[in-house]
Amino acid sequence: MTTHRSLFSSLLFLGLSIPQAIMSPAWISVLCLGGYFLLPGPVSCEGAGKRQKKTPDKKAGNKDCKADIAFLIDGSFNIGQRRFNLQKNFVGKVALMLGIGTEGPHVGLVQASEHPKIEFFLKNFTSAKDVLFAIKEVGFRGGNSNTGKALKHTAQKFFSVDSGVRKGIPKVVVVFIDGWPSDDIEEAGIVAREFGVNVFIVSVAKPIPEELGMVQDVGFVDKAVCRNNGFFSYHIPSWFGTTKYVKPLVQKLCTHEQMMCSKTCYNSVNIAFLIDGSSSVGESNFRLMLEFVSNIAKIFEISDIGAKIAAVQFTYDQRPEFSFTDYTTKENVLAVIRNIRYMSGGTATGDAISFTVRNVFGPIRDGPNKNFLVIVTDGQSYDDVRAPAAAAHKAGITVYSIGVAWAPLDDLKDMASEPKETHAFFTREFSGLEQIATDIIRGICRDFLESQQ
Ligand SMILES: *[C@@H]1O[C@H](CO)[C@@H](O)[C@H](O)[C@H]1NC(C)=O
Repeated sequence: MTTHRSLFSSLLFLGLSIPQAIMSPAWISVLCLGGYFLLPGPVSCEGAGKRQKKTPDKKAGNKDCKADIAFLIDGSFNIGQRRFNLQKNFVGKVALMLGIGTEGPHVGLVQASEHPKIEFFLKNFTSAKDVLFAIKEVGFRGGNSNTGKALKHTAQKFFSVDSGVRKGIPKVVVVFIDGWPSDDIEEAGIVAREFGVNVFIVSVAKPIPEELGMVQDVGFVDKAVCRNNGFFSYHIPSWFGTTKYVKPLVQKLCTHEQMMCSKTCYNSVNIAFLIDGSSSVGESNFRLMLEFVSNIAKIFEISDIGAKIAAVQFTYDQRPEFSFTDYTTKENVLAVIRNIRYMSGGTATGDAISFTVRNVFGPIRDGPNKNFLVIVTDGQSYDDVRAPAAAAHKAGITVYSIGVAWAPLDDLKDMASEPKETHAFFTREFSGLEQIATDIIRGICRDFLESQQ
C-alpha cells in the first residue's frame, strides 16, 4: 500500500521538485487515481480528470513507445556508491518519462558488477510508480563492472517469454558505462545482435586522455552497440546535472523504426527441409531424420510474422508435407513433423530440389525473410543435382546439404552453398545428425548476419 510519504520520498529521490513531477500527466493521474491531493493550486484532480478523458486508459501507458527495455546499470567499485545513486536517479527519470504501461514500454533492471544480477524482470512491474519504487530499492553490489559478461547474461537470460518479453516488440538494452568496461564487450555485442536485442550504450564520464592507457579497447562503444551509426550511443559528461539528458534518451528509446537489431536469424528466416524417404533409410532412421528436423525447427521463433518452416519428402517422387504458410505456431509445426509418414522408394534429389524451389519457395519469394533449404539424404541421387542446386543458389536460397551413410561427398558439395566447407555435412551414422543440427542452426544465424551487413 502506497502512502503519501513513500510517494513524496520517491519524488524527492528522483531529484524532481514536486511541481515538476506533478507537471507530468502520468503523475497527475497516478496521484489522483490514488486519491492524493499533494498540492493546492493549478493542478487539481479535476484537471487531471479532464486530461484523462483525452487519454482514457492511463494504465495502458504510452502506446507510441512500444519497447521491452532492460536497463543495465553499472554497479562497480569504479562508479562507487554515490554516483551509483545518481545513476539510479537518472534511470528513474528516464523510466518515468517513457510512459510505462500495459500497452506502452515495459522495463526491467540488471546490475553489472562482479557477477551480473537481474534485479527485476519486464513482467514484475507494469506501472511507472512500481518501477520507481523498485529502482529505489536496488542495492549497490560493487566489484569489477564486467559489463561484457553482464550484457551477455542480459541478452540470454533477461529476454525470455517467461520473464515477460512480448512478441513483435523491440528488445532493448540500455547499458550504462561509467568510464570504460573492465572486460571485453565485443562478443557480448555479437550475442545480443544474434538474440535480436538492440544495444544502446550510455557512456558517462569518458576516459580522459591520461586514462586512455588503461582502456583495453577505446572503440568499445562501436563494438557493442546494435549498429555503429551513431543512433545507438549516447554520451553524458558526468553524473551531475543529468536532467537535460533524459528527454533525448527517451526519444531514442521510443524510435521503433530504428531498432534494426530486432530482426534476427530466429525470427526472420524461412527454412525448408528436403527429407530423403528412400527405401535404404528404413523406418527407425527415418524417425531420427524427423528428430533432426524438429531439433532445428524448435529453435526458431515460428509465427505468421516470424520464422517459417516447410518440409518436402522425396523418393523418385515428391510429397510436400507442409508449406511455409500452413502452420504459424511452433507447437503445430512440431506436431506435423512428428506425424510425417515414411514413403520408401528411390532417390531423385535433383528433381526434389527443383520441385521445392518452384512450389515451396516460389509463393513466398518476395517476402522479407532470408531463405534456407536443408537437404538430408542417405544415398546417391539417381538424377543430376548440379543444375537444380545452381538454380536454387541463383534464386537466393542458401542450401545446406547433409549426407548420411552412402551419400557421396561430390553430391553434397554440388548441392551446398558457398563456402562448401560450412554448408556440406556428412555423418556415417544417423545418430550423428544430432550434433549437425547445432552446426546448422549456428550456420543459419551466421549466414543471416552476413546477409544483413
Ligand atoms: C519478479 O518476478 C519473479 C517471477 O515471477 C519473482 O520470482 C521475483 O521475485 C520478482 N521480483 C521482484 C523484485 O518482485
